Amino acid sequence: MSVLLNVQNVNKAYGGVVANKDVSLQVKRGEISGLIGPNGSGKTTLFGSIVGAHPIDGGRIQFDGEEISSLRVPQIARLGLSRTFQQTRIFGEMDCLQNMRIASPMQARHFGQWLSRVPASVDRRADELLDFVGLHSKRLLKAGSLSFGQQKLLEFAMALMNEPKLLLLDEPTAGINPTLINGVVDRLKRANEEMGITLLVIEHNMRVIMNLATHITCLAHGEVLASGTPDDVRDDKRVVDAYLGAA
Ligand SMILES: Nc1ncnc2c1ncn2[C@@H]1O[C@H](COP(=O)(O)OP(=O)(O)O)[C@@H](O)[C@H]1O
Ligand SMILES: [Mg+2]
Repeated sequence: MSVLLNVQNVNKAYGGVVANKDVSLQVKRGEISGLIGPNGSGKTTLFGSIVGAHPIDGGRIQFDGEEISSLRVPQIARLGLSRTFQQTRIFGEMDCLQNMRIASPMQARHFGQWLSRVPASVDRRADELLDFVGLHSKRLLKAGSLSFGQQKLLEFAMALMNEPKLLLLDEPTAGINPTLINGVVDRLKRANEEMGITLLVIEHNMRVIMNLATHITCLAHGEVLASGTPDDVRDDKRVVDAYLGAA
């Protein structure tokens, strides 16, 4: 398997707080990779660095063979890299279909005109993806009226509108009703298997990430503590001491 995402020695500090220190990780094309670690260990910061949300202080990031370290969010998104947020970022006053339209890269380029002229192909894809996440019957309801878990599924569907090669998911099962967790895991697996999307998933639920990922990286205090197969990482004494033991 070839390397799709290559993060090399990335550093990022906020003022005096070192959020990522010399972080290196690789995600292979086609795999589901996990990112774990205690709160404040720098997981979300690393996502922000990868997608171009903030400049990094050092290191290199390559995506699909291209250097992306100095590119910004829209440019990186156009290369086929999308993310979802720990706290969702949807438009609560708009219905689900309108949220999907906004997430379309075609609309993003013409932001402001999207209401008057939505290409039929955009709505077709939006409907397919709403169906995929089980929200088709809610397509004309305000996104803000959905449960938190449904809002996360909507955001996942919105990210798929970009037809990403790589999707970064920040705690996709956190805060959602436990009965929805298996549904989310199933959709992530299907996005990987049926749509061919490579996934990098931040996840606190160990049962979920052990079940999903074929490779896991554990961060602690901004640094990579361990990386390897789920079994290797789970049994690593440093991971147990820094994270799992406390969990
Ligand atoms: N925008 C920010 N400004 C200042 N400090 C931040 C900011 N974002 C994160 N941090 C700090 O960086 C560290 C890593 O945070 P974060 O990446 O959110 O960790 P995680 O996602 O693993 O919980 C924490 O100490 C956090 O307080
Ligand atoms: Mg986080």
